[in-house]
Amino acid sequence: MSTETPQSGVFARQPEGTCYRVLMWEACALSEAALSAWAEQRAGILARMRDAGIKGSRGILAKLTAELQALAAEHIEAPLAGASRAGFSFARVGALVACLREDANVLAYRLGNAHAEVLVQLATGEGVDSMVSRWQGATEGMEWCTAPVVQSLTPAEATAWQQSIGNPAEAAEQEAEEAAAAQPFHHVTVLAAEAVAALQPAEGKVLIDATLGGGGHTERMLQAGAEVWGIDQDPAARAAARKRLAPFADRLHIVAGNFRNAAELLRKAGLEQADGLLADIGISSPQVDNAERGFSFLSDGPLDMRMNPGAPRSAADIINTTAESEIADILWQYGEERASRAIARRIVQERAKAPITTTTQLANIIASVLPRKGKQHPATRSFQALRIAVNDELGALDELLRSGLSLLKSGGRFAVITFHSLEDRAVKRYFDHVTKAEIDRPEWPAPRPNPDYAARAVYRKPLTPSAEELAANPRSRSAKLRVIEKL
Ligand SMILES: C[S@@+](CC[C@H](N)C(=O)[O-])C[C@H]1O[C@@H](n2cnc3c(N)ncnc32)[C@H](O)[C@@H]1O
Repeated sequence: MSTETPQSGVFARQPEGTCYRVLMWEACALSEAALSAWAEQRAGILARMRDAGIKGSRGILAKLTAELQALAAEHIEAPLAGASRAGFSFARVGALVACLREDANVLAYRLGNAHAEVLVQLATGEGVDSMVSRWQGATEGMEWCTAPVVQSLTPAEATAWQQSIGNPAEAAEQEAEEAAAAQPFHHVTVLAAEAVAALQPAEGKVLIDATLGGGGHTERMLQAGAEVWGIDQDPAARAAARKRLAPFADRLHIVAGNFRNAAELLRKAGLEQADGLLADIGISSPQVDNAERGFSFLSDGPLDMRMNPGAPRSAADIINTTAESEIADILWQYGEERASRAIARRIVQERAKAPITTTTQLANIIASVLPRKGKQHPATRSFQALRIAVNDELGALDELLRSGLSLLKSGGRFAVITFHSLEDRAVKRYFDHVTKAEIDRPEWPAPRPNPDYAARAVYRKPLTPSAEELAANPRSRSAKLRVIEKL
């Protein structure tokens, strides 16, 4: 397993005033000869700069600055670029990365094998040296070279540097996460003890939490000593988990994206295989409780429902642009809504008068077709259906199921918590299939070996919340946990 750290981070902050590119490296990364030659020549240039400064010779100062940079490039940057030591494992520089990410003045960073480059704009009242020693102080046990190379850049040069290392999609994810960081996030973890115990977390174990959310399951895994790679497509969830789990930053890797691409996302971030994978499928409480997210028919908000606010299609897009028959199919397939056709017809009639843009508008339209019976709001099933369609939840689950075992080492555990029958059916069907050594069909004379046989069931029946958990958290009522172990 590789534990390489993410190679770069770019923030969406705009460079202003003078920016600095700081290059720092581990003391043992460069040869002593190169360093002492650099130090000697640098001291000579600095002395000449001092003289030029006293005389006010701006032209000479600019020439000497260029000389200083050329010297650094020759003695420091070129050898570092070719350095082959793989010293910067995430475990060692995780705290530095966390520190850089939290520093509001850092515009971007890039990590090499044994060095880090940071683009920063100076905070008022703090010098470059004190800032650098603050970052370096975060990495306990690492010996940094005491004299970093510091180069001043104009905002335009800083922007170019940012762009040269930046991945625009990653910058957008980080920007969204920063914007969401101030929002409160409260989610009660479901089947916390059971799901985490199933993955057997311990020191030295590497686990994947494909649905990081507020970090409830991950926190327990980290407390047990494991290293965790947490994926979430919701920037608000990532921001909340990053804050809550800051004390474990050196063993936690947060990955933005959809778990349907888990294999690719994790490989890019530096993880090939793990000892366990947990998926706590579905939405988090803040997604439902925050009216602005548009998931709830109980509070008025924009008809959105995207777990990833950057995803292209919102619930309003589906409701206002999709054919009547398709809306009916969504409500029937994902909500098992018997009045699907009548509701779809009324939606199409209403949207011809004015676009349907809010949760209350849609809930009222549904209620006008389907009068309230019993305790359940008439829009419950339709809202669930729409949410599943907006986020392609079953499609994503299917892809996660098909790639999950490939992400695990032999003996690794794959645990999934579901909250409704459509999801549970998909998990049960897939887990049943891969745990059967042979397949039998009525038309076959004898059973045949199952080419997909790859795991054993850990529990015969799904685990469900205890009476205490149900009493404390009614939202856990439909949860089911299924677990298999890779052979
Ligand atoms: C039920 S919450 C997880 C809560 C978490 N286990 C905890 O205890 O705090 C589900 C999370 O998974 C995320 N999620 C759902 N589907 C996803 C997908 N396809 N890809 C990535 N994240 C997803 C949601 O954004 C949400 O934050």
